[in-house]
Amino acid sequence: MGKKSAYRVAVVGATGAVGERIIDLLHHTKIPLGSLKLLASSRSAGKTVTFKGKEIKIEEATPESFEGVDIALFSAGGSVSKKLAPEAVKRGSVVIDNTSAFRMDEQVPLVVPEVNAEDIKAHQGIIANPNCSTIQMVAALKPIQDAFGISRVIVSTYQAVSGSGTSASVELEKQAKDYLAGKEMEASILPVKGDKRHYPIAFNALPQIDVFEKNGYTFEEMKMINETKKIMHMPQLKVSATCVRLPFFRSHAESVYVEVNEQGLTVADVRKILENAPGIIVQDNPSQQEYPTPLTAEGHKEVFVGRIRKDPDDERGFHLWVVSDNLLKGAAWNTVEIAEQLVANNSL
Ligand code: A2P
Repeated sequence: MGKKSAYRVAVVGATGAVGERIIDLLHHTKIPLGSLKLLASSRSAGKTVTFKGKEIKIEEATPESFEGVDIALFSAGGSVSKKLAPEAVKRGSVVIDNTSAFRMDEQVPLVVPEVNAEDIKAHQGIIANPNCSTIQMVAALKPIQDAFGISRVIVSTYQAVSGSGTSASVELEKQAKDYLAGKEMEASILPVKGDKRHYPIAFNALPQIDVFEKNGYTFEEMKMINETKKIMHMPQLKVSATCVRLPFFRSHAESVYVEVNEQGLTVADVRKILENAPGIIVQDNPSQQEYPTPLTAEGHKEVFVGRIRKDPDDERGFHLWVVSDNLLKGAAWNTVEIAEQLVANNSL
């Protein structure tokens, strides 16, 4: 496709937690928008959304919805993507998919623009947006890899409920109110919609995000492991993850242990590299109690890094605290950023 003066964009899952953020971000996008189509399930068809002063009617997503669409931004769950993304591609759209449906397909680039923007050019119709926890971690790891080389990563996550969709946020709110009113808490969504057991998230911590795999890791943990290697083009990188859901609404936090290849580095060396990295804000001043938190990261597009420390025993080990808004850099913003690069580089 040659460069166009205006692009027709569709958002699939327009009523969801991520879809709504994508629409917000499209208000200020660098992409010249010709038209915006908002798609969701039949439940939402007919509702309206105001965009730049105009009312747009939400339509049910069907294969025909993608006729004449240049860029389709999908965030309506894996099964919708599996069914409709190929239909969109067949009709000439480039799909940027927020689900795990195609992330590990060899033909599908998995992209964090600050890390591997050049992979966008190789797309064959679908580009995948990585898992939210993976995005913020690789954004912090890439500058360290470029400067010093890295060999091992061990991460523990502290993840917000909005990563599980709007229904999980509603569940947390209700449970918190019930608990404080002395009532029994009911759990029917978390840790995983449709799994055998449910536990309350309010005033709790759940060491399960997504379903369990045969090796004892959860699918979320395996996403972090496999996606990190793919995005960074480092199949040999040692990565392990423990993913935990906590009772706050927005932004994921992560404790990341990284082993660098170079000997003799100081905290100041690592801090300087991160301070100069694109999309990263370092907030790290222990004497003033300065560090990022989920509440302070909320609403921001950047990845925040603090608590940079050298491991007390391992000369090559460093610890970081990495926080970012899971709905923005972890999802909606990374998606829109990929779309902007597609258009800027004429890679549609
Ligand atoms: P709807 O609101 O009509 O159900 P979240 O991740 O916040 O739970 O949002 C999920 C998004 O995916 C919503 O916009 C939802 O629309 C949309 N969705 C769910 N099922 C379908 C479907 N079968 N076809 C298209 N969109 C769907």
